Amino acid sequence: MSQHQDQKLDGQPDASRRKFLNTAAFAGLAGAGLSVGLSACKQEQAPAPAQNAPAAAPTAAAGAHKIEVPPGELDTYYSFSSGGHSGDVRIYGLPSGRQLKSIPVFNVDCMSGWGITNESKAIVGTRPDGRLKYITGDTHHVHPSYTDGTYDGKYIFVNDKIHSRLARIRLDTMECDKITDLPNVQGFHGTFPDKRDPVDAAVNHTTRVFCGAEFSIPLPNDGHGLDDTAAYRSLFTCVDAETMQVRWQVLIDGNCDLVATSYDGKLAATNQYNVEMGIHYPEMMAGEWDACLFFNVARIEEAVKAGKVTHIGSSKVPVVDGRKEANADPKTALTCYVPIPKNPHGVNTSPDGKYYACSGKLSPTASLISHEQVLKWFDGELKEAREAVVAEPEIGLGPLHTGFDNKGNAYTTLFLDSQIVKWNLDAAIKSFQGDKTAVPVVDRLDVHYQPGHGFTSMGETKEADGQYFISDNKFSKDRFLPVGPLHPETAQMIDISGDKMVLLADHSVTSEPHDSIVIRRDIIKTRQIYDMNDFPNAVKDPKESGLTREGNKVTIKLTSQAPAYSLPEFRVKKGDEVTIILTNHDKVEDLTHGFAIPKHDINFAVSPQETKSVTFKVDQPGVYWCYCTHFCHALHLEMRSRMIVEA
Ligand code: CUA
Ligand code: CA
Repeated sequence: MSQHQDQKLDGQPDASRRKFLNTAAFAGLAGAGLSVGLSACKQEQAPAPAQNAPAAAPTAAAGAHKIEVPPGELDTYYSFSSGGHSGDVRIYGLPSGRQLKSIPVFNVDCMSGWGITNESKAIVGTRPDGRLKYITGDTHHVHPSYTDGTYDGKYIFVNDKIHSRLARIRLDTMECDKITDLPNVQGFHGTFPDKRDPVDAAVNHTTRVFCGAEFSIPLPNDGHGLDDTAAYRSLFTCVDAETMQVRWQVLIDGNCDLVATSYDGKLAATNQYNVEMGIHYPEMMAGEWDACLFFNVARIEEAVKAGKVTHIGSSKVPVVDGRKEANADPKTALTCYVPIPKNPHGVNTSPDGKYYACSGKLSPTASLISHEQVLKWFDGELKEAREAVVAEPEIGLGPLHTGFDNKGNAYTTLFLDSQIVKWNLDAAIKSFQGDKTAVPVVDRLDVHYQPGHGFTSMGETKEADGQYFISDNKFSKDRFLPVGPLHPETAQMIDISGDKMVLLADHSVTSEPHDSIVIRRDIIKTRQIYDMNDFPNAVKDPKESGLTREGNKVTIKLTSQAPAYSLPEFRVKKGDEVTIILTNHDKVEDLTHGFAIPKHDINFAVSPQETKSVTFKVDQPGVYWCYCTHFCHALHLEMRSRMIVEA
């Protein structure tokens, strides 16, 4: 880089940091003409990598077309991403990286009215006074429902770590339709739907969702045993995918973290980093070994059916005993603890259904566990559960999450090395068996910076296509224009279709995503217009519009049709409890209206043929202009109604 390029730009962070840039990536970005607003920057800097590293240019140019989505064309993949402590789920188009939508789940969203309308409050849950039970959430893992080993486009499940809730999003409307509180647990982190029934082969779709609790607590957590930390325990939970009721829980030793499921439905797994059951972090990393814990789903459900259960506190959920002592005989065991080196993070199932990759985090290894071997352990055919580990390559420092391609390779994020490491499963197995010629690690690529989750396109299905790997990095530092102390994160897109990984693009993502998945677009079939009949309270005919009163409870029925509401005004009295029901009668796609009321904290949107309602108190006499907040028509500004509150 020239002296000139190393100078500070407008007092921004030192541009010399660009020497850290991966040259292939930079040429790729410049070639794609992505950064319209950065054209000056591009002219100034784009030639540099080409001059300095001519060898890199052809690779990057070859990859560049892969991220170009010209105006008017659509992306080939959807990416669904947990928002982290923003409490939402985001939808991106890939390869462009364009954000398409934020689905409010555990957060309050004044654009759509999530957490404001009566319908959304009923899903999120309220306190006796009508306020939301919680307005905070922390989404970590998003996993869709399966049919026959691949995504069926029906649901996405997402956790809330703060309040231990599982939410379901309908993929036809991309809206949350159910939220379930998990009893007896804290720090609900990993979640994964099953892919098949373990017993009934005809059920080849998701019927259960498994949930891993990371923190151990006194059971019941009612104020007793606060300091008896040795008695704190954690549970693994199964939720019914349709009813969203909690089916059962398993009391375990150690903790849960991430969750994975087998393609045959027989096993669910969670990695454990705190088998020490420590309270403070030095205790949690005291041991050299932790575990990957497997659950025999059919046996657990037999035990539940046979009534071999307990209940914790006032919870009605049946709890089976999955602790080590109660499961010493593999032939009847509900659980199998496979020893894994030091504080593993992440467990991922390979697309062929044969293996689970569980990374060491504090050990530089990834452990490959054989599905068949774990089943053999449950049949009493292994001496030790550790015999289920069939490979343990040294892959780098701080290995966390693993994605897979369709050619037998794994891609693991290395948090400390700030790299993605590509390793071959067969070579790793051969090397583990003593073959000195087998070299597990085939490629490494720097990412920017410190990757957490990483995942491949369709990689959590049997239709893994080996096209892209996304590295959800925990730090973006100098990769984007500075926006103050809170940085965006980087989701870096990597081409994995060739022998070498190629960094294609830096996508900025609002803080603070954790995990994402990449789905082929043909799998998703959305509704573009609601069915009015789906809403029991719909105002089906504009002639129904008007006011009904019962004591101080007033109901206003209202319809919208651009550019007007069916009532130009309505009169209520100070002290009334007002419910407004609004049905949007427009049938044109993309014709959404809003409804906001000043000084009453009401704002929501109704899409074509949708109905929503709000309930609130009026206690200040006066005139309040209710208006349309969502641009709908040339007369959008004129689209109003007067709420007249009489003294
Ligand atoms: Cu209706 Cu803007
Ligand atoms: Ca540990």
